[in-house]
Amino acid sequence: MNTKKNIIIDCDPGIDDSLALLLALQSEEFNVVGITIVSGNAPAAIGAQNALKVLQLVNRLDIPVYIGAEEPLKVPFESAQDTHGEDGLGNSQIPPVTSVQPKTEAVSFIQKTLQQNPGTTVFALGPLTNIALALKEDPNCFAEASRFIAMGGSYLSHGNCSPVAEYNFWCDPEAAKFVFSQNLPVSIEMVGLDVTRKIVLTPTILEYMKHTDEQIYQFIQQITQFYFDYHWEHETVLGCVINDPLTIAYALDPTLAKGFNSHVEIATTGISRGQSIVDDHNFWQLPNNSYILTDVDQTAFWHLFLSRVCKAEGSQLSQVLPQLLEVRS
Ligand code: BDR
Ligand code: CA
Repeated sequence: MNTKKNIIIDCDPGIDDSLALLLALQSEEFNVVGITIVSGNAPAAIGAQNALKVLQLVNRLDIPVYIGAEEPLKVPFESAQDTHGEDGLGNSQIPPVTSVQPKTEAVSFIQKTLQQNPGTTVFALGPLTNIALALKEDPNCFAEASRFIAMGGSYLSHGNCSPVAEYNFWCDPEAAKFVFSQNLPVSIEMVGLDVTRKIVLTPTILEYMKHTDEQIYQFIQQITQFYFDYHWEHETVLGCVINDPLTIAYALDPTLAKGFNSHVEIATTGISRGQSIVDDHNFWQLPNNSYILTDVDQTAFWHLFLSRVCKAEGSQLSQVLPQLLEVRS
């Protein structure tokens, strides 16, 4: 019997999306039914090509990639190519995949997959445009979903696009607002900046990858160099924050992060555009629609990530992890 969990990854690859894809693809617990692409870090067509590059790297071009929304629901599209590179992969010059073409109709793929495969988990790693469109057309499409885990928003941490807004919710605030207002049958597991900011790929961790899987190391090194430089220039950080893989790691090991249930709404306009407002004092007396992550075990994350993506050997990893993480608080 196939006991693998069916998953859909809706994403905007994207440097950290690509690392999340690698983690999911290297995890035997998951059957990646399809990858759906939304415009975000890069326009959707570029994102689709990047998903194919990741699939090619791990010999999984059998997994279909679907292009979805090219524009947010209402606001003009603003990519994050300043941080992810013109090609969305840190200007890494990885040749395009020509043997397979991405499909279209990401939204109907999401709807059909959720309908036909009860128990599917949906990961949303980009702006929520595709998910909002799926729900607008079919408000019940999440009826049989198992989990919905979204990288986006923040609770107490500051934003990365404005003092209060995280990019995915800021990029398409109407989509985020709509999705959170739907009283979905599953709680939205909000993996926001409070926790993802703590996941920093440092030069030391990258250096360790060199001693594990050479091909994977080359790929990660190529796509993250630009991101490293951006973090140094803008934040004086050595390394780069990788947000998206934490969603996958948390789904694989729920003990790796924790949070609390609350009602969350998304602001759409003015200085609070894209802010996730968490009613942690229950002012609004509204049903909980989300589970907001607040704490993450960084050591457990890196143990999982390195052992799966880089195939780092368990006892060596336990020995080396304290060295990799000792200077991070
Ligand atoms: C989110 O925005 C994107 O830049 C990343 O891929 C991540 O999904 C972080 O704010
Ligand atoms: Ca992303």
